[in-house]
Amino acid sequence: MASSEIIQRAAWLRERIEHHNHRYYVLDDPEISDAEYDELFRELTALEAAHPELDDPNSPTRRVGGAPAAGFAPYEHAMRMYSLDNAMVLDDWFAFAERVSKGLGRAGVAYWADPKMDGLAVEVIYEAGRFVRAATRGDGHIGEDVTHSVRTVMNLPLTLLGSDVPDLLDVRGEVVMSNADFAALNERRREAGEPPFANPRNGAAGAVRQLDPKVAASRPLRFLAYGVGRVQWGSPLFAWTSQHEIMAGLARLGFAIPPEARLCASADEVAAYFTSLMERRAGMPFEIDGVVAKVDSLEMQRALGFTSRAPRWALALKFPALQARTVLRDIRIQVGRTGVLTPVAELEPVPLAGVVVANATLHNKGYIAERDFRIGDTVLIQRAGDVIPQVLSVDLDQRPEGADPYAFPDECPVCGGEAREDGEAVRCTNPTCPAKTVQRIIHFVSKAGLDMEGVGRTWVRRLAEDGVLQSPADLFTLDKTVLLRYKRMGDRLAAKFIEAVERARTSAPLWRLIAGLGIHNVGEQTARTLAARYRDLAALALADREELQSLDAVGPVIAESIHRFFHSPEGVELLRRFREAGFWPQRAETVAGETGAAENAPLAGKVFCFTGVLSSMTRDEARRLAEEQGGITVNAISKKVDYVVAGDNAGSKIAKAEKLGLTVIDFDGFMALLGERD
Ligand code: IVH
Repeated sequence: MASSEIIQRAAWLRERIEHHNHRYYVLDDPEISDAEYDELFRELTALEAAHPELDDPNSPTRRVGGAPAAGFAPYEHAMRMYSLDNAMVLDDWFAFAERVSKGLGRAGVAYWADPKMDGLAVEVIYEAGRFVRAATRGDGHIGEDVTHSVRTVMNLPLTLLGSDVPDLLDVRGEVVMSNADFAALNERRREAGEPPFANPRNGAAGAVRQLDPKVAASRPLRFLAYGVGRVQWGSPLFAWTSQHEIMAGLARLGFAIPPEARLCASADEVAAYFTSLMERRAGMPFEIDGVVAKVDSLEMQRALGFTSRAPRWALALKFPALQARTVLRDIRIQVGRTGVLTPVAELEPVPLAGVVVANATLHNKGYIAERDFRIGDTVLIQRAGDVIPQVLSVDLDQRPEGADPYAFPDECPVCGGEAREDGEAVRCTNPTCPAKTVQRIIHFVSKAGLDMEGVGRTWVRRLAEDGVLQSPADLFTLDKTVLLRYKRMGDRLAAKFIEAVERARTSAPLWRLIAGLGIHNVGEQTARTLAARYRDLAALALADREELQSLDAVGPVIAESIHRFFHSPEGVELLRRFREAGFWPQRAETVAGETGAAENAPLAGKVFCFTGVLSSMTRDEARRLAEEQGGITVNAISKKVDYVVAGDNAGSKIAKAEKLGLTVIDFDGFMALLGERD
């Protein structure tokens, strides 16, 4: 049983982690570094592993996704989730506002207006301030229970903030994906040979409606609150009387609300807001398809009531679709970091939502073949959150005579190497293809990797094309004088460049390095999991597939690509170069605990495998002890293991160890090794 001290520590860690999640994901204003956050998270994970009785479904560690659900249970909404009537033109809006004024018998009605988010409508339920359930809207009466996947949405409070918390609260809102996150997700999917999503809404809705919560956890979902269902307070003093009080109240309780939401004093003000938002639509962080205007006063809302399908006090003002027709002039092939050949449409430039579009994505070989796009075709294009618009369909009536089906290349347009099909993707098979090198280094320095602000992608491209950068490791040996040879690289730029590299060398967290390596299917989430488990790249490189698969959210495919990377000649060479260059991030805990270099620790570099039941501590505790002293721990017996530490009932591993001639010691022997440091 956990002592009261441990219970308190776990509660404190949970509260702190949720606080920092709110700072990071809702307020976009973090107070601590990634490494400090990781340290809190790791400590809580370890405490929970050692004390299963601390189990709590609302622990922030559960956001990574627990066991899959068996199916979707129906959930009956306590209060119906209505739909909205639409206005396609501003005249419709003014007609609606007239009806409202007439119905209320007064002019000058104030409206709350917010963007209409294009995602999946969800209701989240809190009892005594704790998240207990989430359900989709369904038909408005009955939805599906999606508690397991909505729990993984990082900006959703699992415990409400502040002291004035309702006894019961239904919050309604939209699960969405930001345009930037969507673009990055699709990029990753293309690289992994998976079909990209057509728009952020599909990516978000598909993730929520998955039985395996790990899928939702691996997608960058956000919940934006726009209203409430049931609200029960302990004291009537707190009751909300207007939509603007509800929104301010939800923000205080820890929810993110739609950006740009505001109170408008009149119908004219709503119209002006609508026009202004439509003009700025392309620059919004989220995909929005209109504005929702709601009568602000709850008393007036009650007086107006509902029709059979929608409230009489709210209306959706829709933006026109972001589509245009133009001519497909040519198809250009881009080569990505993992060698994926991505087709890009070169279009007759056409204005669309305030920008001129000249390029659009064609996703992959199959996408072109299925829709039979041919050069010279007139095509329908659409902007959907992605920075790059997409080509939707072809107008066959406009097809020029003699247009041939498009032949997707079977060799890399950059290096001429063989290009082979791999799932949905076609990849260049040449490991030294220069296009891959450029993209790999760009990924390495990008936000998805080391986040080296000051190392611009244009410069990386330039330096890579000139052969100055042939590997990410070259960044760490780059001399300022080399940079200054470039005309447009002034002293200030060069200094910023070098500074950014030095910052990474001294303080980049291990997970950023792992994510920056560009291993197939290893994004931020997996990188964080790996960095919490392994002390450095050397320890990770030693892990076999079986051990990797025992980690949260690591399946056979990811385990295989990690293993393959660390056993490839390029991977081995890269690690050697990083170490040589003094770029060797370590897991936060070890860095904090050590005063000198890791090499001086008593168990430095020694590989341990623990097996059986140890006296006086759990295997995890023993592992951590070994790692704190510089050791590396693995689960499986192999020739690389220096010491097998055997407890009671050690089983088959001992036989295998003896067969390989490994040193087998007992727990006291292990403690003696540790003692040697004194
Ligand atoms: S208010 C009774 N506000 O639009 C009024 N809805 O067409 C409830 N939606 O299913 C809706 N953004 O999922 C409201 N800012 C917003 C919204 C919004 C998106 C969705 C919502 C609803 C649909 C109705």
